[in-house]
Amino acid sequence: MTLLPAARFEALPRSALAEVVGVPFGIYVHVPFCASRCGYCAFNTYTTSDLGGRDLRRGYAEAARREISLARAALGPDVPPVSTVFFGGGTPTALEPAELVSILAAVQAEFPTAPDLEVTVEANPDSVDRRALDELRAGGVTRLSFGMQSARAAVLAVLERSHTPGAATRAVRDAHAAGFEHVSLDLIYGTPGETDADWQASLDAAIAADPDHVSAYALTIEPRTRLAAQVRRGLLPEPDEDVLVRRYDHADDVLAAAGYGWYELSNWARSAGARCRHNVLYWHNHHWWGIGPGAHSHVGGTRWWNVAHPDTYAASVAAGRLPVAGHETLDVGARVAERVLLGVRLADGFALDISPSVVRELIDDGLVQIVEWGDPPVVVLSRRGRSLADLVARRVIDATVLPVASLRP
Ligand SMILES: C[S@@+](CC[C@H](N)C(=O)[O-])C[C@H]1O[C@@H](n2cnc3c(N)ncnc32)[C@H](O)[C@@H]1O
Ligand code: SF4
Repeated sequence: MTLLPAARFEALPRSALAEVVGVPFGIYVHVPFCASRCGYCAFNTYTTSDLGGRDLRRGYAEAARREISLARAALGPDVPPVSTVFFGGGTPTALEPAELVSILAAVQAEFPTAPDLEVTVEANPDSVDRRALDELRAGGVTRLSFGMQSARAAVLAVLERSHTPGAATRAVRDAHAAGFEHVSLDLIYGTPGETDADWQASLDAAIAADPDHVSAYALTIEPRTRLAAQVRRGLLPEPDEDVLVRRYDHADDVLAAAGYGWYELSNWARSAGARCRHNVLYWHNHHWWGIGPGAHSHVGGTRWWNVAHPDTYAASVAAGRLPVAGHETLDVGARVAERVLLGVRLADGFALDISPSVVRELIDDGLVQIVEWGDPPVVVLSRRGRSLADLVARRVIDATVLPVASLRP
């Protein structure tokens, strides 16, 4: 892997541009603002008090539109159609619906877009009302993802979420009434103090709200968060690994029984059409441009990331410069490792281009199951393997003979 200073990132390397055509391409727009910071969250997001009382939201849409123009220019003449746009955060709905729609309109003006363009907006359940949802739908948004996290007030309090237990249910109802077919709920399990009954109640409430997609993530104790400090001081217990595995297995059983099939380790959908195509693009390691402070991008084995602070970001794009803080070019080994680490997570299976004896060992250890005995064989993680996905990926990477000839450096 080659790490290069930001000053030299004025344009995409020719090797990356050579891979652009024909590979699905998405745009991620990071909106780095939240009304308050949840105690467990380490994302690049800012409250008004973090910004010294200044409200930087109003200038943000213009800055994002400028970066979209810079991105279009940097990709050259052969840019493929954009297949997905994902507004994430932070809290995208901290912006006015018209501002989000103006950013989407800039994507549509600068890039060719696929006829079935997927446009997702992440939202906190208490950050949208029916009017906002109507405006987003009318403006071309096709999918909403609400951060529900839990149906229990005590769990939401430990997470320092701002919304009440019923808010996510109301938000899904309003989203359906506004005409959204694709609505997702995010859940978190393993919060200190959460019981099996709490988790069951959260799953039940999520399913009763009738989304067509559910994500369930184990709580990660991120360094330098208020939650990490509470755990360090012994005020809250660290999530227990066995409990996390039990909660995951229970979620999979309950969601499957309700008609949601897993398609990625932490994601379940009612149908193939309900899958989040933007996230599928990440897991296939396709190409995306991340717009906004701190956003990450990948094109053809080159990865880069933007400056984190909204002020530095705005100054850079206003001066007509890509707001890049750093970049790296992955070598063949790193690219293979990435493909394996991401690919093993998918329920559609992944090709195991490794020695048959290692494939046999993974099967005998109960970690993978055969989908197709081709050459190479296609396998999928077993339920046990899903709890040990990184270990399986490591064994596959260690057994991979690098296909030097088939990958551009
Ligand atoms: C960064 S948030 C952005 C969307 C929105 N602000 C929200 O909170 O729903 C996206 C998802 O990441 C989850 N998340 C953030 N930090 C996490 C952590 N430490 N462990 C597990 N999930 C986390 C959030 O709970 C949320 O569902
Ligand atoms: S609302 Fe979402 S992005 Fe904002 S602090 Fe909470 S989890 Fe993080």
